[in-house]
Amino acid sequence: MAKPPILVHTIAALRREIARYRKNRETVALVPTMGALHRGHLALVREGQKRADRVVVSIFVNPTQFAPTEDFGSYPRTIKKDIEALTEAKADLVWAPSPATMYPQGFATRLAPEGAALAGLEDKFRPHFFGGVATVVAKLFTQVTPDYAMFGQKDYQQLRVVTQMAKDLDLPLKVIGMATVREKDGLAMSSRNVYLSELERRHAPVLYRTLKNCAARIKAGEPIAMVLEEGRMHIRQAEFAVDYLEGRHAATLAPVATLKDGPIRLLVAAKIGTTRLIDNLGV
Ligand code: PAJ
Repeated sequence: MAKPPILVHTIAALRREIARYRKNRETVALVPTMGALHRGHLALVREGQKRADRVVVSIFVNPTQFAPTEDFGSYPRTIKKDIEALTEAKADLVWAPSPATMYPQGFATRLAPEGAALAGLEDKFRPHFFGGVATVVAKLFTQVTPDYAMFGQKDYQQLRVVTQMAKDLDLPLKVIGMATVREKDGLAMSSRNVYLSELERRHAPVLYRTLKNCAARIKAGEPIAMVLEEGRMHIRQAEFAVDYLEGRHAATLAPVATLKDGPIRLLVAAKIGTTRLIDNLGV
């Protein structure tokens, strides 16, 4: 059995461990997560290991990125299984602060990201979300002081927001975006997939199928607006309520009218039953 990662719950203990790495001139990659780890998260750990001497995985279900109506209370918490997976993956350290450690009494500072964070995609449906994400990720960056921070393209708008935040705050680290890891039938792996009923799970691959189909047609020169409207219809036929299916500039997330306004990224969010799923794909 491999050695389990060191588990730390306090900022003082975290700093001690990071100082040890630094004393040995070791580089550090951080993988921020909310736990309920799956192969997508573990791909980020592996890439971190390729780039840095040490990999720190943070596990923190961040209350400030959930609205009161959302699933903070029921979000899957599987820390024991997560530690097992991270033992096998040979991660070095797990940073698992409590909400009170992250947000002590009197906490009063929140980042307000603009730019990609106001693109009218996730922000339109979850207005509190990117403020919460940017704040917690900035804290994780200053706590862990990594050389690299690994994020998934699965959460594409988040990746853009976090990349810009690190740049705007002059944080000396490189944000790395990794390809989305999928199930065999194309469904993007997500901690929220466990919410799907058997029937919903069977419908769920329609999102990726539609993204692929739309990307191919847009690439072939078909009008973007028409292709996306047909895509939305297709997704609705599989019992989903569509929040958005849009084509945006891959870097700025600004709207695009034609192929030459690209590179284009297609982004989708849709709800089946009570579960909201997101996915995206480059054209
Ligand atoms: P979480 O949903 O746990 O995701 C943690 C990281 O794993 C994110 O960078 C996400 O994009 C990546 N990820 C999730 N599913 C993936 C998949 N199928 N393939 C590749 N990467 C995938 O995103 C968050 O947590 C939080 O918002 C966080 C950044 C930790 C801030 O609280």
